[in-house]
Amino acid sequence: KKISVVIVAAGSGSRFGDPLPKQYHHIGDKTLLRHSIEAFMQLCPAHHIQVVYNPLHQNHLDAAIGDLITGKNLRAAVAGGVTRQQSVLNGLRALKDVTPDYVLVHDAARPGIDPDVIYRVLDALQEHKGAIPGIAVHDTIKQCNDDKVILRTIARDTLMRAQTPQGFDFNTILMAHTKFEGLEMTDDASLLEQMGISVKCVQGSERNDKITRRHDLIRLGEHLSPENS
Ligand code: CTP
Ligand code: MG
Repeated sequence: KKISVVIVAAGSGSRFGDPLPKQYHHIGDKTLLRHSIEAFMQLCPAHHIQVVYNPLHQNHLDAAIGDLITGKNLRAAVAGGVTRQQSVLNGLRALKDVTPDYVLVHDAARPGIDPDVIYRVLDALQEHKGAIPGIAVHDTIKQCNDDKVILRTIARDTLMRAQTPQGFDFNTILMAHTKFEGLEMTDDASLLEQMGISVKCVQGSERNDKITRRHDLIRLGEHLSPENS
């Protein structure tokens, strides 16, 4: 099966709160973006990796991955959009000439992706049109009104925190993204859910949690530092 990867790195990192977008910050000697790219390069060197970026960050991109050979494996980066959803769609469209069987869509803000998680997602794709890694929720979850008064407690045993890479049958996810262009869903599985197409949740990993705020980077940096790997 032909597998392609879309790595979305076109965000500005507003919650992270630094002029340098989080995907261009370092853990150890590599940027977050490069951690992700190298994880997929090692896994399936023959496959296509499509990075989506913001052309305003061209110098950061060049500094982060300029030395990696852009060719059959790592394709030239394409421009993203204002929303994550638009960025993913741009990445999927850029892969049309490849027409892979499967595509894995991954956040550059998750530098702790490991092969086990990727393989679990790919395995599940043999039976499902979509598969994503998830983590069980350990906190008690409250739904509140606008005044932060609790309305109800959600049974947490049914809840999973969604991670990436989210894997899909390529034509199915391209069709869903094309149909729902302009929405602002924060992940890709949501689009298949809207269409009633079942998506399987497989075991994710804590080190694959997303870097959203500053302290996430400090915490994950400790996890990923060479003496712990
Ligand atoms: N992303 C993207 N294009 C956008 C928005 C987000 O490619 N228009 C990417 C980000 O670069 C990130 C991933 O989608 O790798 C997950 O998004 P998020 O964590 O929300 O990153 P940002 O949008 O950059 O951060 P924030 O929401 O805090 O501004
Ligand atoms: Mg965002």
